[in-house]
Amino acid sequence: MKNINPTTTNAWKSLKAHYQTIKDTHLKTLFKDQDRASNFTITWEDFLVDYSKHRIDATTKELLVDLANEVDLKGAINSYFGGEPINATEGRAVMHTALRDEGEHAFAKAEVSKSKQAIKNFTHRVISGEHKGATGKNITDVVNIGIGGSDLGPVMIVEALQYYKNHLNTRFISNVDGDHVMESLKGLNPETTLFVIVSKTFTTQETLSNATTVRKWFVEHLGEEAVANHFVAVSTNLEAVQNFGIASDNIFTMWNWVGGRFSLWSSVGLSIALAVGYDNFEDMLSGAHAMDTHFKEIPFDQNIPVITALLSVWYNNFFGAESEAVIPYTQYLHRLPAYLQQAIMESNGKSVDRNGDQVNYQTGTIIWGEPGTNSQHAFFQLIHQGTKLIPADFIGFKTALHGNKDHQDKLMANFFAQTEALMNGKTAEEVERELEKSTLSRKQKEQLIPFKVFAGNKPTTTLLIDKLTPASLGSLVAMYEHKIFVQGVVWNIFSYDQWGVELGKQLAKKVLSDFNTTTAMDHDASTSQLILAYKSVN
Ligand code: F6P
Repeated sequence: MKNINPTTTNAWKSLKAHYQTIKDTHLKTLFKDQDRASNFTITWEDFLVDYSKHRIDATTKELLVDLANEVDLKGAINSYFGGEPINATEGRAVMHTALRDEGEHAFAKAEVSKSKQAIKNFTHRVISGEHKGATGKNITDVVNIGIGGSDLGPVMIVEALQYYKNHLNTRFISNVDGDHVMESLKGLNPETTLFVIVSKTFTTQETLSNATTVRKWFVEHLGEEAVANHFVAVSTNLEAVQNFGIASDNIFTMWNWVGGRFSLWSSVGLSIALAVGYDNFEDMLSGAHAMDTHFKEIPFDQNIPVITALLSVWYNNFFGAESEAVIPYTQYLHRLPAYLQQAIMESNGKSVDRNGDQVNYQTGTIIWGEPGTNSQHAFFQLIHQGTKLIPADFIGFKTALHGNKDHQDKLMANFFAQTEALMNGKTAEEVERELEKSTLSRKQKEQLIPFKVFAGNKPTTTLLIDKLTPASLGSLVAMYEHKIFVQGVVWNIFSYDQWGVELGKQLAKKVLSDFNTTTAMDHDASTSQLILAYKSVN
């Protein structure tokens, strides 16, 4: 991949100048153009992506696409899909797209299809009851033990596809918090529970501790012999899994060319395939593959991941916006913001460029969100009337899965009303007119006006999708994955490593050993004080 400081490009310089001309223009003014909504909308398969409520005009879009061209996004896409080691600091290719593609990645094809076959066979056996627990009973509960990418993707998808779920109950244990582990085990019958331990490295402290505790609890109930029927693992580290006491027949493989936060498409998604069945899992892969093809082949000015990424760069680097909200108008996607927090912030939260130099511009955005309408009653006040500019993605589905029109109408009315309100706001004159009928005195009315004014001009992208299906969900997640990639290319950073999580892990080991030592500790005064306070009761 090329190594270009984006701020040195002609497009960046032009965007800087252009920003000065458009920064104060209100979206209401931009909407005087009758064709704006259709000009800034992409329709693709069952997706309608309306980005007309953004503070851009045709020139902005042109310059942003110029920027993508100047940083050689096309070449970078070819490197990404071509299996080049674009995760340079770890010397790895980034090939999660090969997991959802039947033909193109010849080198990975055989391994991927073998792995998929293993997932298919196993999930079929568990769901059908052919695979029994050690005492001959059918499996009723699946517990996924993993953290980060080995938890967030699977839990997000299982929650999102609840409607498609079979009879298996699914639980997720992630945090090393022992209370979380014990609460998660409450009510479980070891005879009918399958534990799926997911760790790409099989060295992660949280997952290994949780798995050890759970295994101990299990052995206390059913004995060592029963482990083989109730424990499977997903990992690249076969030796460590075997040392943990899981037989090689019960190990599902993955590869170093699949990053943890992009791994739900691999056997890391075993709990997804168990929860919704292999066919739905496969449909999700197909949906993601369709988005991969769109991303690879469609010109940048009509390309959903490219346009959404460039819009994010526009606000992050020119308007100085620090965060972005993701608001799904469906409860099914309630874990999407949490999943995206890892995907986006672990990928693009970097301050060193691909040269190893400190960047002199902003990179990764902060991601947060909650489902609408809950979020309206929580933090929308700040988005509407606060001092910060927060571009937001609004995601919704035309059809409700349970078909309750009354609820769906209300949900979607709120969705559309919010983006309209964020865009238009409400002027002092409009507030004044509204107050005309009120019984307040003229003075009281005048005093109230400034508090009831909405500046508007708050940008949103609307992602309106026909229906929440495994395939449309796959496309949506793949869209965000590619958006992350595009942003990393523009910012000239490495999106696929995560060195920033290492220091805390190292120090946690040191602190843990200091809990059990009486010798002098080597910490700052604050940390030492905290350790001593903890030790005084433990
Ligand atoms: O948080 C750091 C990280 O390495 C993530 O990137 C990864 O998803 C998570 O830990 C879990 O790692 P593993 O699957 O190896 O247990």
